[in-house]
Amino acid sequence: ASTLPGLPPEYRLVAYDCLGSTNEEAKRLARDEGAEHGTLVWAGRQEAGRGRRGRPWSSPEGNVYASIILRPKCSTATAAQLSFAAAGALADALQPLLPEAVCCCKWPNDVLIDDRKVAGILLESETDGSGGLEWLVLGIGINVQHYPADAEFPATSLCNEGSRINQPGPVLVRFFQAFSTWYDVWLKEGFDRIREGWLQTARGIGGPVTVRLEKRTLAGSFADLDGDGALLLELPSGERMRITAGDVFFPEL
Ligand code: BTN
Repeated sequence: ASTLPGLPPEYRLVAYDCLGSTNEEAKRLARDEGAEHGTLVWAGRQEAGRGRRGRPWSSPEGNVYASIILRPKCSTATAAQLSFAAAGALADALQPLLPEAVCCCKWPNDVLIDDRKVAGILLESETDGSGGLEWLVLGIGINVQHYPADAEFPATSLCNEGSRINQPGPVLVRFFQAFSTWYDVWLKEGFDRIREGWLQTARGIGGPVTVRLEKRTLAGSFADLDGDGALLLELPSGERMRITAGDVFFPEL
């Protein structure tokens, strides 16, 4: 175990120079070694970093790659709400570092700086026989020094945006300080407060949006985030659709 100054005391840090994927290592620790709530796996770089929907996650040294094991007593479906807490915490943690740019959340759990992706979240979990959560692994990647140029979605890094903090360690600490606060709010007050907080920095609420689903693409207006974290898409017909998975695109600013 290692330490990082400023990390909230409830987290136990396990640091590596290099891993395949911090999510894979955290899942192994949770599953095979019964690692406790708050175990935080951090790697300097990853050789097989993964994003949502099976995409690769470019992971050179100089960015943040971390995964935390969480064991709240709730259903797996309820625990999925924590991705919004993580996104809100990321926006809270990163905005003060940016002298000129605006940091916001993009549904479901990306974080953007001036419309370019700076961080992503990957949630994986194991359920017990009755729908209860065994463990949740929340993985976060934050582009601190590097960002992929060939990404399907435009990306950026904190350094590229003029951040005064340019090392992964301090950025990791800032994120987990913010996340610890959001997690406590979630435990005590539930998803309603998380939803409100997320909506405050959410990109495109009430505006036009295109949602790419598995087999089709829909255009409409981003009406709201519902009580389960689904995107409510208002179609031109006035009908509202609940979207639970998909890629969101906004028209150019
Ligand atoms: C996404 O936006 O697609 C999610 C990206 C998540 C990347 C992080 S980096 C740390 C952790 N380990 C992984 O392999 N993925 C997540």
